[in-house]
Amino acid sequence: MANRHFGKLADVWKHAALAEVLEREPPGRYAETHAGSGAYPVVHDREREFGILRFLEVAPRFAALDQSRYRASTASYVKGERGLYPGSALLAMTMLGEASKYLLCDLDQGSIADLRHWSRELGLHNCEVAETDGMRAVAAWLKGEGREPGLVHIDPFDPDARAPGGCSALELAARVADSGTRLVFWYGYDEAGAQAWAHRRLAALTRTPLWCGDLLVTGSINGPGDLGRATTPGTGFGVILANVQAGTVAACTALGEAMSEAYANAILPDGSTGNLAFTSHTTGNGEQS
Ligand SMILES: C[S@@+](CC[C@H](N)C(=O)[O-])C[C@H]1O[C@@H](n2cnc3c(N)ncnc32)[C@H](O)[C@@H]1O
Repeated sequence: MANRHFGKLADVWKHAALAEVLEREPPGRYAETHAGSGAYPVVHDREREFGILRFLEVAPRFAALDQSRYRASTASYVKGERGLYPGSALLAMTMLGEASKYLLCDLDQGSIADLRHWSRELGLHNCEVAETDGMRAVAAWLKGEGREPGLVHIDPFDPDARAPGGCSALELAARVADSGTRLVFWYGYDEAGAQAWAHRRLAALTRTPLWCGDLLVTGSINGPGDLGRATTPGTGFGVILANVQAGTVAACTALGEAMSEAYANAILPDGSTGNLAFTSHTTGNGEQS
């Protein structure tokens, strides 16, 4: 398992937005560049107490969270006998089932084996799990895409990393946006001033309208944060969408606002009190970020 960050708050936001897009606009083809494992045994540490465990506890008090497909799907795994947190690929496979074809890429053998296990467990016949560089494989997948609407989820550790001769995650995101294929792109940061940074970078690479939903952890002292280790003030993360309907954007905006409300004056993993600042940003169609 290469992904140590499952079930933290950054995952909650990424997966809640992804599930909203999948629910409202189910794609016939789903591709993921950095798929991770299918599922992860839930860990009861401070980060997960603040992330997925707190989310499931408070969601019933906030309609947008309570009615989200993310809450329902994730709760069925977390509260199930095995106590698992589903990663993005398993969330997609669970929600879309046989109605979609899949390309799931990762470089980690343990993650690949777990994805194959889940594809078999769910009885999927059109699920390719590829141990390969996700940017290269999904760029080729994009060229071969037919008329069937597709969705690409890009969730990189390093948005600028590239294999020799290949493109970076941000460059691939621009190609996806330009192709008309739905895009869900995740980014993180650990300085309060970096809010929505990936949206600005991506908007410089494509003219396709983009929506960005950004959550920044705030406290009495804002930063520097530490995205890799802990959800401290100054840490933030966001999701960028392209080629999705206005209703989907509105639903994701409502989710972000509800997250901010649900985490108002929360006790952060470091024991201090904090908040979640939600901001949304758009580009294209004459709008400015
Ligand atoms: C943050 S995890 C993915 C989590 C998953 N998308 C989710 O939301 O549940 C990042 C994954 O990217 C994989 N990875 C890193 N570089 C990669 C590359 N160039 N191509 C494919 N996978 C890569 C790692 O092995 C790791 O499993």
